[in-house]
Parts: sequence; structure tokens; C-alpha cells
Amino acid sequence: MKTIVITGSSTGIGKATAKLFAEKGWQVAATMRTPANETELTTLDNVKVYPLDVTDIASITSARDQILADFGTVDVVLNNAGYGLMGAFELADTAQIKRQFDVNLFGLMDVTRAFLPHFRANKAGMFLNVSSIGGRITFPLISLYHSTKWAVEGFSESLAYELGELGIQVKIIEPGGVATDFGGRSMDMANNEATTDYNESIGKFMAAMTERASSGLGQSTAAQIAEGIYAATTDGKPQLRYLLGDDAVQMYAMRKEYGDDAFMVGMKQRMLS
Ligand SMILES: NC(=O)c1ccc[n+]([C@@H]2O[C@H](COP(=O)([O-])OP(=O)(O)OC[C@H]3O[C@@H](n4cnc5c(N)ncnc54)[C@H](OP(=O)(O)O)[C@@H]3O)[C@@H](O)[C@H]2O)c1
Repeated sequence: MKTIVITGSSTGIGKATAKLFAEKGWQVAATMRTPANETELTTLDNVKVYPLDVTDIASITSARDQILADFGTVDVVLNNAGYGLMGAFELADTAQIKRQFDVNLFGLMDVTRAFLPHFRANKAGMFLNVSSIGGRITFPLISLYHSTKWAVEGFSESLAYELGELGIQVKIIEPGGVATDFGGRSMDMANNEATTDYNESIGKFMAAMTERASSGLGQSTAAQIAEGIYAATTDGKPQLRYLLGDDAVQMYAMRKEYGDDAFMVGMKQRMLS
């Protein structure tokens, strides 16, 4: 039986992936910040729940130690925990920016580093790093979230070389829009009422996002993304990137077809006019 460790498995993509892997006969170490709130995963036979906050090194190492004690071997680590900080860059305060990088980038690095000695000893293992279509293209007014995901992309791509030499694989998961808590409870907003110069852009952006959401465009389910993650884990291919969701595939195809500048003109027309 293979074992997967998942970060951020309390909701959304992480939880759906934990359920799917368990269904497929994997052992699942479902990690989350507050396991006391978990009522579903705790009822599944081959799932164990562990406390892990990706911004707290002590919680990462103690979860890692307990998981290895319980399962012996870990085959796959899914670095999934993350959230979005939205709004104009200038309106975000330093603490918000740091927190965004602490969770989406440095947390992912710390979890990766915690499992590396185990993977090196086994000369095997796979890291699946959840980026986003927002790690390949950008929308207006999301510069801070995008910068974490572009960093995850560069980090993961370069890491794939050095770990590949040791028998360890790195793959990048790039979902498009997914109906989860991402756009609600999990979202942070940069806001400063004293600065009004961005209000017009923000208003247009919000209207475009609302229209996008009501058109149903860009809304995979978490279960669909979990299927894509399962396929990426088990396809046996030396493939680095997995765009998941029709919207992600379509947007990236447009970026390639039109090139950076024309793509940005189109994005501006859609989101800021
Ligand atoms: N939904 C989308 O449209 C979309 C698109 C592309 C990429 N993604 C990426 O997919 C990943 C999962 O997001 P989701 O859509 O499933 O959203 P979600 O339902 O909001 O789930 C986010 C998860 O991350 C966890 N988390 C946040 N901060 C954490 C921390 N410090 N330590 C450990 N866990 C933490 C949350 O835990 P708590 O319950 O404790 O808050 C939650 O389990 C993220 O990396 C996100 O950037 C999402």
C-alpha cells in the first residue's frame, strides 16, 4: 500500500484528494491546522489525520515524525495548503504580504525539506506542488498571490533537476478556477480606505469576476482536480506540469498563441474595461 501526505486537507482540493486516494486504496496522512474540527476524514479506514500548520516548523517535523512512525514509508507529498491575497499591491500591508509568502511558498519549501531525507534514503518519492494557472499567467489586482505561485513554479522546476538525479520526482499541479473555500473563507483582501485611486479598477475587476462566476466559466469541482492529481501521481510519466480544468488549458493555450503582450491586452479588455 502506498502512502500520500497531504497539506491543507481540511477542505477543498486537499480534502477531495485525501478521499480519492483513500478510495483508490492508498494510505493517506491528511494534515491540517485544526484536526479537532474534522468529522469526515476521521471516519475513513485508511486515512489518518495529523495537525500541521505549514508556517510552524515544529508542527511540520512532529507530523513528519509521527507519519513515518505510523506508516514507515511515504511515497508522495502533496503540497496543497495555500490561499489567495487579493487586491492592489500598494494596499496590502507588510504582514499580509509576508503571511502570503509564508504559507504559499516558504511553507511549501519547509514541508518539502522535512520529507527530503526520507526520500533521499529511499532513492524514491514524489513531490506534487499545487501551483495554479495563476503560476503561468496573471490577472490584474492579484500580484501577490501570483508572485507566490510563480515562485512555486520556478522553485519546483529547478528542484526537479537536482532531485531527479536522486530518483525523486517533482510535479506541478496547475488548476484553473475551482469551487472551494478559496474565493470565500480562505481569501484575504488588501484594503486601505484612505487610498481611492484603485477603486475604479477594483470595481471593474469585481464586476468581471462576478460575470465570470455567473457564467459558470472556470469552475471545476475539487473532485475533478483530485482526479487530475491522482492521474499525475500514477501516470508514470516524467511530466513536470499538469494544467487541470478546461479554463486553465484554454487560458494557457491563448497565452502561447498570442504571446505575452497581446495576451495582456486581451486580459485588460476582459477584466478592466
Ligand atoms: N480554488 C481555486 O480556484 C484554486 C485555483 C488554483 C489553485 N488553487 C490552489 O489550491 C490549493 C488549495 O486551495 P483550495 O481551492 O482547496 O482552497 P480551500 O478550500 O480554501 O483550502 C485551502 C486549504 O489550505 C489550508 N491552509 C491555509 N493556511 C494554512 C497553513 N498555514 N497551514 C496548513 N494549511 C493551511 C486551509 O486550512 P484551514 O481550513 O485551516 O484554513 C485549507 O485546508 C491552494 O494552494 C490554492 O492556491 C486553488
